[in-house]
Amino acid sequence: MIKVQFHGHACFSLSTAQHTIVIDPWITDNPMTDLKADEVDCDYILVSHGHFDHLGDAIAIAKRTGATIIGVAELATYCANNGVKAHGMHIGGGYNFPFGRLQLTPAWHGSSVLGENIYLGCPCGFVINLEDKYIYHAGDTGLFGDMQLIGNKYALDLALLPIGDNYVMGPEDAVTATELLRPKTVVPMHYNTFDLIKQDANLFKHKVETTTNSKCHILAPGEEMTI
Ligand code: NI
Ligand code: MN
Repeated sequence: MIKVQFHGHACFSLSTAQHTIVIDPWITDNPMTDLKADEVDCDYILVSHGHFDHLGDAIAIAKRTGATIIGVAELATYCANNGVKAHGMHIGGGYNFPFGRLQLTPAWHGSSVLGENIYLGCPCGFVINLEDKYIYHAGDTGLFGDMQLIGNKYALDLALLPIGDNYVMGPEDAVTATELLRPKTVVPMHYNTFDLIKQDANLFKHKVETTTNSKCHILAPGEEMTI
């Protein structure tokens, strides 16, 4: 059994009896979070790209806990240069970690450390195999047709998809993404954090459940579900 907990914006934790993986731990200055950065405990941190609302507190948490940061090679190298354990991968590559297999997927977006002239490679998403489940975290991305390849390859139990629009997919494209990915359940993310990405998650849920075969589970920050 896997506990999936939402922590606001694009941050989730995935916990089994042995492992806790945190994805995109933006906590400091996140108006939606339920966490305190200095209380997070995990053994792996997945970072989808370099923007502050995803890289967030990853380096500080990794320093304190000894957790390994996983991301594309440029981002992993940046983290390692900041004194933490990091495992670099790249788009399309998979690796068998102690928690299970992880494959990096494409994402259409940017990946700079905003405000500094540092670019951390390309952004990515993740397909995470934990126990007998497959979880897709799309990262920040627009809709792309190769989501169909991801849906064909993996019987996804859960897809975590952005719906905020402006920087990422809006709700309409996220419904199309759900059609291509065919997950058992979709959880919307990356919305309502700022006015610019305000969305009606209930409307998204209604569209998903009336036009696709997937269920939609809306999680408030701090809420969890098990798969
Ligand atoms: Ni971003
Ligand atoms: Mn973002």
